[in-house]
Amino acid sequence: MTTSYSSRFQQPDAVAAYETGEYGADSYATGIWQMQRPVVERMVKNFRSARPGPVRLLDFACGTGRVLSALEPLVDSAEGVDISENMVAVARTRCRQSRLLVGDVLASPELLQPEYDLISCFRFLLNVEPELREKVLCRLRQVLRAPDGRLLVNVHGNAHSLRHPAILWRRRRARAANTGEMLNELSATAARQLLRNSGFEIVQELGFGILPPTLYRTPLRPAAATFDRLLAGENFLSRWAIDILFVCRPR
Ligand SMILES: C[S@@+](CC[C@H](N)C(=O)[O-])C[C@H]1O[C@@H](n2cnc3c(N)ncnc32)[C@H](O)[C@@H]1O
Repeated sequence: MTTSYSSRFQQPDAVAAYETGEYGADSYATGIWQMQRPVVERMVKNFRSARPGPVRLLDFACGTGRVLSALEPLVDSAEGVDISENMVAVARTRCRQSRLLVGDVLASPELLQPEYDLISCFRFLLNVEPELREKVLCRLRQVLRAPDGRLLVNVHGNAHSLRHPAILWRRRRARAANTGEMLNELSATAARQLLRNSGFEIVQELGFGILPPTLYRTPLRPAAATFDRLLAGENFLSRWAIDILFVCRPR
C-alpha cells in the first residue's frame, strides 16, 4: 500500500517514530543535523545582521519544529506550517516564539503571509510526490521577498552519493517484503533544475554526510563521523554528499 506524503505523518505512531527513531539521540539523521545546525544558524545570523529591517521566517513543512526551534530565536518573527496536526502538536511544545499553522498551502493559499524574508524547507522535497514539488516551490517563491530573500532547502537523499548502492539493495528487499519503506533519491542536477523551474537561483550548495550510513553501524563509526564532520559544508565533495543544502534567492 502506498501512502501520500501529506498523510504519512498524520498518525501519532508516525510522529513518535520520527521523534524517537529517525531523530533518536544516536541516529544518523541526528548526526547530520548536528553538522548542519551550526551552519544554518550562522547563515541566518549573517542574513539578519546584513539586513536593515526585521527578518520574517517561514519554516515550511515544519513538522515537529526541529529546525524552527533552532531558528526562531535568531529572527524577528517566525511561522511554521505543516499539514499534520500531530507533528505541529509536538512543534507547539518546542517553539515558544513561533506562530504555528496546520493546513495545505496549495488548497488554502491564505495560510501564508504575503511576504517572508527567509524560508526554510527541510526534509520535504525528496519524499513529496514529484508532481507537488514544483507547485509547492512556486508557492514559496511567490511569498519570498525579492530580490534579496533566501530559501534554505535540502534534499536528504542525493542519488549520486555513496549511499546509492545501499538504497538499491534496500529497494529490492522492500519490494519483496512489500514494506512501503521510503527509499527515494533525487540527484543534485534534478534538484537544481527543479529550483530553477520554480523561479529560484541557487547561490550556495553545501553537503553533509559523504560516507555511507552503513559505516555508522560498524566499529568505524567514530572515524566515519570525524571524516564527515571535516567535509561538511561547501567544498569539492558537496555535490556527492547524501544531504545537500541549497541556498537560493528569487530569480
Ligand atoms: C520528514 S518531515 C520533516 C519535518 C521538518 N521539516 C524537519 O526537517 O524535521 C516532513 C513533513 O512534511 C509535512 N508535509 C507533507 N506534505 C505536506 C504538505 N503538502 N504541506 C505541508 N506539509 C507537508 C509532513 O506532515 C511532515 O511533517
